[in-house]
Amino acid sequence: MSLQTGEPESPVTGGTTVKTIHVSSNHKLSSSHQQQHLTSRTRTIQDNQSKRVLRKPPGRLSELVSPQNSFTRVRDYVDPSGKLSFSGKAVLHAQGVDFSNGVSYKINMEELKYIEELGKGQYGTVQKVLHMPTGAIMAMKEIRLELDENKLNQILMELDILHKSNSAYIIEFYGAFFVESCVYYCMEYMDAGSLDKLYGDGVPEDVLATMTISMVKGLQFMKDKLNKIHRDVKPTNVLANMKGEIKLCDFGVSGQLIHSLARTYTGCQSYMAPERIKPQESSTTYTVQSDVWSLGLSIIELGSGKYPYPTPDKYSSILGYINAIIYEDPPSLPVDRFSEESRDFVAQCLKKDPQARPTYAQLLEHSFLKTYEHANVDMKGWVQKAYEAHLASANKR
Ligand SMILES: Nc1ncnc2c1ncn2[C@@H]1O[C@H](COP(=O)(O)OP(=O)(O)OP(=O)(O)O)[C@@H](O)[C@H]1O
Ligand SMILES: [Mg+2]
Repeated sequence: MSLQTGEPESPVTGGTTVKTIHVSSNHKLSSSHQQQHLTSRTRTIQDNQSKRVLRKPPGRLSELVSPQNSFTRVRDYVDPSGKLSFSGKAVLHAQGVDFSNGVSYKINMEELKYIEELGKGQYGTVQKVLHMPTGAIMAMKEIRLELDENKLNQILMELDILHKSNSAYIIEFYGAFFVESCVYYCMEYMDAGSLDKLYGDGVPEDVLATMTISMVKGLQFMKDKLNKIHRDVKPTNVLANMKGEIKLCDFGVSGQLIHSLARTYTGCQSYMAPERIKPQESSTTYTVQSDVWSLGLSIIELGSGKYPYPTPDKYSSILGYINAIIYEDPPSLPVDRFSEESRDFVAQCLKKDPQARPTYAQLLEHSFLKTYEHANVDMKGWVQKAYEAHLASANKR
C-alpha cells in the first residue's frame, strides 16, 4: 500500500546562494554523550522515513482515506520523494530548504553535531548544535510534524519570516530541512538564552528600557518591512547574547492555532490581549495592537521578576484567570522601583481598547525609551551577571 500520488514533484527553484554563517571559535563539547553524532540518527531516520509515512496511522485503508483523517493530507504536502512542499512558497527536504524566490540554505542533518538541549517548548525541542563544515554554533529547533494545516502554516510562516528577516533585533536564520516527519530549522544561537531565565527578581529600569527598545524595533521592522505581526511576544521568545544584544525569535504562530481554546485554557501563562481571549464581533482578526499588549505584559514580567497575573491555579477556576485579564484593571510596574515614565509606557501598551494602544513609532518616541536611547547602558555587563546568576541557581536545583 502506498500513499504515493503520482503527482509531479514540486518544482524546486534551485538557487544556489548560501547565506554566510558567522563562525564561532568557541565551541566546546562537554561530554562524549553530548558529542553524539547526529548522522547515525539521521540515517535511521531516513531509513525509516518512508516506513513511518506508511506506518501511520495503523489500521485500515478506509481509515487512511477517510476525509476526517488529517493524515490523508500527506499527499498535499509530502511528495513521493519525501519532500515537504508548501505550495509554491518553499520546498523542504533532507538536504535543505528551497524558497520560491530562489535563495536556498543548504544545511542538512549530517553536517550537524549535537551539543546540548537548550529548552523545550510546546511544539518541540531546541538544541545547541555544531555545524561542522563551518564550525558555527547554531540553535536547532525541531518541530514534530503533524499533518495539520494550522501547524504547517505556522512552520511555513516562521521559516518564511526568518528567511526574509535581516535586522539586528531579530535572530538570524541559517537553514532548515525536513527528516522523518520533523521539520528542523537552524538559527542564530544566543548564548545567554531567553530573558525568562535572566530577569531574576526583575531588571533595573535602564536595562528594561534598552531591552524594550530592541523589542519594539524588532517588532516595528517586522510590521513595516515584512508586514508581519509576531503573535507570540513573551520573555521566552526574546533572546540575549553575551555581547548584550537582545533579539526576537519565533514569529508568526498561526492565528488559528493561537485562537484555539485548547491552547488558551490549558493553564499556561497567557500573554494574550483581552480582545484575543474574548474577540468582539467586530474585531475577530489579530492585529498589531495585540502584540503591543503582549509587549506590555512582558515588560512588567521583566521589570518585576514575575508574570503579572496570578497563575490559573491560584484562581478557583481558569475562568477567574481569564476574567481577570478581560475585566480587571491591567497590571503595572512596581511603583517603588520604576519611574512614572516607564509606568506610563506600560499603561499605554495595556490599554483595554486595542485602538487606544500606541503604534511602534509612537512607542519609540515615548519619554521612557527616549531617556535611555543614547544612555550607553552596560547591557553586556548585565547579561553576563544575569547569566552567571542563572547558572548558579540552576546548579543549586
Ligand atoms: N536561538 C536560540 N538560542 C538559544 N536558546 C534558544 C534559542 N531558541 C530557543 N531557545 C531556548 O529554547 C527554549 C524553548 O524554545 P521554544 O521556542 O521551543 O519554546 P518556548 O518559547 O519556551 O515556549 P512556547 O513553546 O510556549 O512558545 C526557549 O525557552 C529558549 O530558552
Ligand atoms: Mg519560543
